[in-house]
Amino acid sequence: MMHVLQPDPDGIAVAARHLRDGGVVGIPTETVYGLAAITFDPAAVARVFATKDRPSFDPLIVHVAGDDPARAVGPVVAFGTDARRRTADRLWSAFWPGPLTLVLPKTADVPDLVTAGGPSVAVRMPAHPVARALIEAAGQPLVAPSANRFGRISPTSAADVVAELGDRVAYVVDGGVCAIGVESTVVAIEADGGVALLRPGGVSVEALEAVIGPLRSDLGSPRSPGHTASHYAPRTPVTLVDEGTEPDRSLPGPIALLCRRAPRGPTVARWIAAGQPVVAAEALSTDGDAVEAARRLFAALRHLDASGARTLVVERWPDHRGLGFAIADRLARAAARG
Ligand code: TXA
Ligand code: MG
Repeated sequence: MMHVLQPDPDGIAVAARHLRDGGVVGIPTETVYGLAAITFDPAAVARVFATKDRPSFDPLIVHVAGDDPARAVGPVVAFGTDARRRTADRLWSAFWPGPLTLVLPKTADVPDLVTAGGPSVAVRMPAHPVARALIEAAGQPLVAPSANRFGRISPTSAADVVAELGDRVAYVVDGGVCAIGVESTVVAIEADGGVALLRPGGVSVEALEAVIGPLRSDLGSPRSPGHTASHYAPRTPVTLVDEGTEPDRSLPGPIALLCRRAPRGPTVARWIAAGQPVVAAEALSTDGDAVEAARRLFAALRHLDASGARTLVVERWPDHRGLGFAIADRLARAAARG
């Protein structure tokens, strides 16, 4: 059974000792909870993959801490070119600590398992004070994928980590509910200093482009190895609909509803009037605010998934500006099958 550790010096010391002994620990970050292990301990890294049922082709993000990003990434990153180094410097100066992950050439010290055998490593400096304290107490960078079983909904509270992995992991450190609620944005920095988007996330495309100019990749097809079509998936089948759409009584019922914004009552009433029973409903936001919606997204999906519904009816997030891009991405992947 998993022990929930308090985010105080005692709890952090217990977690850090377990990490140094080769264990895995659930840790809070500002985006989602991670499942951490020491980066340079291949057996511990292998335990992370096994705990999550994660396929070994899907590489892990290395989490670093410290006042000086260049020094913090030193043990794991080799830049290769000055142009790449300059772009990295601009990005971490603007966004670290925070929800931005940079993919850069790796040093020889990074175990192949971390990068799925590839030449590049993903690295970020989290902003959550408990994550930073844990990395410092462990004395080394920590790998940390989201602390869910592969393909499932990412956890945004310590209780969610217990629900996902309670029988498989000894400890989670409770750092409260994640402030951002969706994972970090992942970008690759190429040899000429150009930047490609691999996964939309907590730092918006607009914010990135304000710092480094236009991104390179086709935003329609981010290409992280683990960013497969079906991901973030509830067990209940998800159907995406437009807000205000005509209720569909042919969907397997009863249904659960995830509305884009409050109030959800009128939407529930319309589905019931159309002959479709509704067992649970949530609103992602009060009035369409993407920051609020991102924070609620995974907890709402998790709650509705446990409601006994046979279909989750989810309203699309139509505004792709800011965090809306990451929200729409996660909803599309929650709805994708196979
Ligand atoms: O916010 C986050 O990034 C959270 C918290 C815990 O830090 N972590 C997270 O990790 O979302 P994970 O493993 O669930 O997602 C990492 C993503 C995957 O899509 C993976 O394929 C990609 O980053 N990735 C990792 N290493 C990579 C690499 N070397 N090259 C390209 N993509 C990489
Ligand atoms: Mg994940």
